[in-house]
Amino acid sequence: MALATLREVLEIAGRTNTAIPGFNIDNIEIPEAIMEAAEEENCPVILTIGQGAIHAGGLRHLPDVVRRIGESSSVPVVMHLDHGISYEQAVVCLRAGFTSVMYDGSHHPFEENVRESRAVVRAAHAAGISVECELGAISGVEDGMSHSGANLVDLEEVKRFLEAVDCDALAIGIGNAHGIYRGTPDLDFARLAACRDLGAPPLVLHGGSGIPKDMIQKAVRLGIRKINVATEVRLAFMEGLESAVGTRDIYAMYGAAKSAVRALAKEKIRMFQNKE
Ligand code: 13P
Repeated sequence: MALATLREVLEIAGRTNTAIPGFNIDNIEIPEAIMEAAEEENCPVILTIGQGAIHAGGLRHLPDVVRRIGESSSVPVVMHLDHGISYEQAVVCLRAGFTSVMYDGSHHPFEENVRESRAVVRAAHAAGISVECELGAISGVEDGMSHSGANLVDLEEVKRFLEAVDCDALAIGIGNAHGIYRGTPDLDFARLAACRDLGAPPLVLHGGSGIPKDMIQKAVRLGIRKINVATEVRLAFMEGLESAVGTRDIYAMYGAAKSAVRALAKEKIRMFQNKE
């Protein structure tokens, strides 16, 4: 089937009261392993290309890989840009066949975030492509870039942002962070519910690695419809490789790495669907 848009899979999530995983991919083996899990669980999936992957390999090969994977998949697959840095980058991704782009202006002054987000939405919607925006910068380390400081979204800003920007999904800071949490994350569920009650589009939780299952499932009940997982995917892949490094056999190493990613993706999919 053709690639799906973010809007299409988030509609499914809304109907089923679940969240769709947005897994970051950095090579060919990771999306292959994720797709095995997604097809076994019959769950749509968002294959996410982030700034780290773009730095490492540009946009030369991964979009082609994702498009081919989507064509032969039995479940809807979205090709998504993570933490897009500019209008220009969004346009490059639209041309490369992405079906969803995130523009992250959360580190800019509010008015600038609104202005750039509107421009990205106008271009993407003209091409039938979905857009995720962000408010309340999410701290932590993402693709080598470190952000710190307050990350609780301001409800007044959410209201004003949504009046001005017709985005298809909104990432919000509610105490979540990229990377591995020190201790248990402190998520502000009341703030999440308040965002939902403002009539926000489907809400996105970044920093999904390491958030305990009960917190994830509570967030899904309160309206989170997309959850991003990057760090745990990379760790699973690397630990899989390491477990087989003694074989000195590249296929055994890739096999172990893919099994580890497949198991992780299955666990997250089931968790986000409230299956276990
Ligand atoms: P983690 O690396 O913490 O899973 O965060 C992923 C993410 O939010 C990507 O945008």
